Amino acid sequence: MSRILIIDDEPAIQDVLGDILRDEGYEVFIAGDGLEGLRLLKTEPVDVVFLDVWLPGKGGIDVLEAIKSDWPDVEVVIISGHATVETAVRAIKLGAYDYLEKPLDLGRVVTITRNAARLEALRRENAALRQGQFLEDDMIGDTEGMRRIREIVGQSAASDSRMMILGENGTGKELVARMIHNRSRRSTRPFVEVNCAAIPDNLIESELFGHEKGAFTGAVARRRGKFEIADTGTLFLDEVADMTLEAQAKVLRAVQEMTFERVGGEDQIHVDVRIISATNKDIRREVEEGRFREDLYFRLNVIPLSVPPLRERRDDLPILIDYFHKSLVKGDNDASPPGFSAEAMKLLTEYPWPGNIRELKNFIERVTILVDETVVTEETARYYLGKAGSRLSVVSADREYDTMKLGEARDLFEKRLVERRLEENGFNIAKTAQALGVYPSNLHGKIKKYSVEIRK
Ligand SMILES: Nc1ncnc2c1ncn2[C@@H]1O[C@H](COP(=O)(O)OP(=O)(O)OP(=O)(O)O)[C@@H](O)[C@H]1O
Ligand SMILES: [Mg+2]
Repeated sequence: MSRILIIDDEPAIQDVLGDILRDEGYEVFIAGDGLEGLRLLKTEPVDVVFLDVWLPGKGGIDVLEAIKSDWPDVEVVIISGHATVETAVRAIKLGAYDYLEKPLDLGRVVTITRNAARLEALRRENAALRQGQFLEDDMIGDTEGMRRIREIVGQSAASDSRMMILGENGTGKELVARMIHNRSRRSTRPFVEVNCAAIPDNLIESELFGHEKGAFTGAVARRRGKFEIADTGTLFLDEVADMTLEAQAKVLRAVQEMTFERVGGEDQIHVDVRIISATNKDIRREVEEGRFREDLYFRLNVIPLSVPPLRERRDDLPILIDYFHKSLVKGDNDASPPGFSAEAMKLLTEYPWPGNIRELKNFIERVTILVDETVVTEETARYYLGKAGSRLSVVSADREYDTMKLGEARDLFEKRLVERRLEENGFNIAKTAQALGVYPSNLHGKIKKYSVEIRK
């Protein structure tokens, strides 16, 4: 389901456009001016924007430029009551997808949205493909564990066999999956990722296998599923242990026979897909305790690959630090990595890195951007590691709550918890929502309510 943002100051347009797009099954966000729209884009993954050229404050063309520079893949449809050819041409030149005149022709609104959303999805797939190729040589690390992974990837990438990648949060499972794809004969074909944990149970089947028009409320058109999109390429089933047993049964059949039906359809669809799966759960225990089908486990786990946590390969810390620092100050040849004092380095080697490489990456980012010292002291390092610190602040905050009304205290607690979980999950909305046991849309609501800053 695509997500649409309407930036228009006229309530009538907001209502009409919002209603018709919601009826078409889109999720709709509304902003009354450009700045609010740009702010929304930061927290909401939007696919298509409807943008009025005549806006109070920051003008539509400026907003268009800002969107295209920060979110080049988002499609923008310009709306105007004072359509002049010049504005239209200018907007299209700046990258707008199309142009609508007021009063709105609702039929055209629907077609344009559909086409723009499709284009955006295609772009995103291509971008994922390019990113996958770009990342090929970017697995940093020279310790035994890393070398072992390169070896296994080297030996098995070309073979088309199914691989299951195990490892804690943020250890680099996805990176490894992309590496396997890039070294395989499928490297020029799509690499399609599905995060099984982020999709609500009732939608997973349609997400994986697609659906026919009218298969259920909201299925306004036939839609291809991930298995179909990944045809001739690689399908990455991320967080595979988070699928329901019901979904597992369907996946088992698709994996065994490479054949399935779209939801609400009868045609047998045949595909050729290489499957790589990943999970941070102890999958054998999931099998033993009956939460994961053993037959599916054996199907998927032809070649197992374990990515070690950072605390088991601390010798990689210096090169990883250097690498992340350099990638942040790209283009600046004089950039030397922040030096850490001996005590600071000792702290970093002793720190357990529960968020693994992702946490290290975020830490280096914070230090690079915020610290002026040429040599980072232990105290500064401790401060920017943040975790231990933020945990302390939650404990001492208990006293703070003493004088508050229940609602106020609850809000403050909720805000802090959301902030902390977001940080722990690298500001990944799907993962954080899962960790908190809420839907992503619910989490978005809280982020907005508490103006939580998303650092990425
Ligand atoms: N060996 C490595 N060298 C350089 N960067 C790495 C390495 N491993 C991971 N990263 C980076 O760390 C971040 C987290 O990696 P990735 O998303 O692959 O982890 P993951 O195991 O899939 O995490 P999660 O369990 O949270 O999904 C990414 O930005 C990735 O590029
Ligand atoms: Mg991952």
